[in-house]
Amino acid sequence: MKIIQIGTGGWGKNHVRILSKLGVLSAICDIDEERGRRYGREYSVNYYSSLDSLLGSEEFDAAFVVTPTSTHLQITKILLDAKKHVFVEKPLTYKSQDGEELVRLAEKNKVILTCGYIERFNPAVKIVKRMVKERRHGDLILLEFHRENRMPLHIKDVGIINDTSVHDIDTANWLFDETPSVVFAKAGRIKHEHEDFASIMLGYKNDKVAIITSNWIAPKKVRRFSAVCTEAIISSDFITQEITIENSDKSESLENEKQEPLQLEIKSFLNAIEGKGTHIVTAKQAVNVTEIAEAALLSSQKGVPIYLELK
Ligand SMILES: NC(=O)c1ccc[n+]([C@@H]2O[C@H](COP(=O)([O-])OP(=O)(O)OC[C@H]3O[C@@H](n4cnc5c(N)ncnc54)[C@H](O)[C@@H]3O)[C@@H](O)[C@H]2O)c1
Repeated sequence: MKIIQIGTGGWGKNHVRILSKLGVLSAICDIDEERGRRYGREYSVNYYSSLDSLLGSEEFDAAFVVTPTSTHLQITKILLDAKKHVFVEKPLTYKSQDGEELVRLAEKNKVILTCGYIERFNPAVKIVKRMVKERRHGDLILLEFHRENRMPLHIKDVGIINDTSVHDIDTANWLFDETPSVVFAKAGRIKHEHEDFASIMLGYKNDKVAIITSNWIAPKKVRRFSAVCTEAIISSDFITQEITIENSDKSESLENEKQEPLQLEIKSFLNAIEGKGTHIVTAKQAVNVTEIAEAALLSSQKGVPIYLELK
C-alpha cells in the first residue's frame, strides 16, 4: 500500500513518523519547502511543495490531510476527485455544508473518507465504551470533559470549539451512541482571534447530558473525563490513560496498557482500506460533530439553546 501525506507541521510530523514505521509512506507534500525537504530526507521519500506536482508524479492509494482546518475542503476535494481514500484531520471541514459535499463525493467515487477523532482510539476511551455498552456499572447518565491548556497563538483559522471541543463532542456521541437533540453553550475570547474558552452542554435522549469544558487560557494541561453511571463514577485521563472506578464502598484503579492512540487510529484506517472491517469514524459522524460545533457557536452568540435533528 502507498500512502502520501499533506501537511507535516506540529501534528503532521507524528503521522509521517508512524506511516514510515509501518512501511507505507511514499511521498509528502508541504507548502513549507524547507519542512517538506527535512521530512522527505529523514524518511527517504519524495517531497513536494504543491499537491498538483505530487499528483502529477506519484501513484498512491490513500492520503492523510494534516493541514490547517481552513484548507481541508479544497485539498480533500482534489484527492476524492482523484478517487483516493482520505484521512482528514479534525475537524473535517469548518462548515458542515462543506463536509456534506465531501461525504457525497466520497460515496460517488466509492472511496473511504474518515476524520481524525482520535480519542475513540484511546485505550482508556475504548475500555469505558465497553463498560458502558455492557452496563457494567449501570446506565450512563452524565459525561463530563475537561480539556485545558495555555495555547500559543498559532491557530488562527478557528476557535477552541472547532479545534478542541470537537474531540469531546465526538467522544460524547460515541459513548452515548447517539447524537444530541439540543446544544447550549457559552464561549468567550481573552487572547486569541476566535473564542478561546467554552462550556458546552449537549442534551441526549432521556435527559442525559454531556458537559464539555475547554479553554486555551489556564496555565495547566488537563485532559480528563468522567462517566457518571447509576452504580459508579468512572474517571479517566486522556493522557495517562488511567481509569478509576468509584462507588460508595471503594475506589478501584484499573491496570491497563498505555498505547499511542494515533498509531491505533492510523492502523485502523489502513485496515479499513484493505477491507479488514475495523472501526473508523465515518465521514457522516464527522459532519455531525461540525454541526454540533456550529450549534454551540450559535447558541453562545444568541444565548439560547439550539435544537438539532441529526441523522
Ligand atoms: N487529532 C489531534 O489530536 C490533533 C492535534 C493537533 C492538530 N490536529 C489537526 O491537525 C491539522 C494540522 O494542525 P497542526 O497543528 O499540525 O498545524 P500546523 O500549522 O503546525 O501545520 C500545518 C502544516 O500544513 C502545511 N500546509 C498548510 N497549507 C498547506 C497546503 N495547502 N498544502 C500543503 N501543506 C500545507 C503548513 O506549511 C504546515 O507545515 C489541523 O486540522 C488540526 O486541527 C489534530
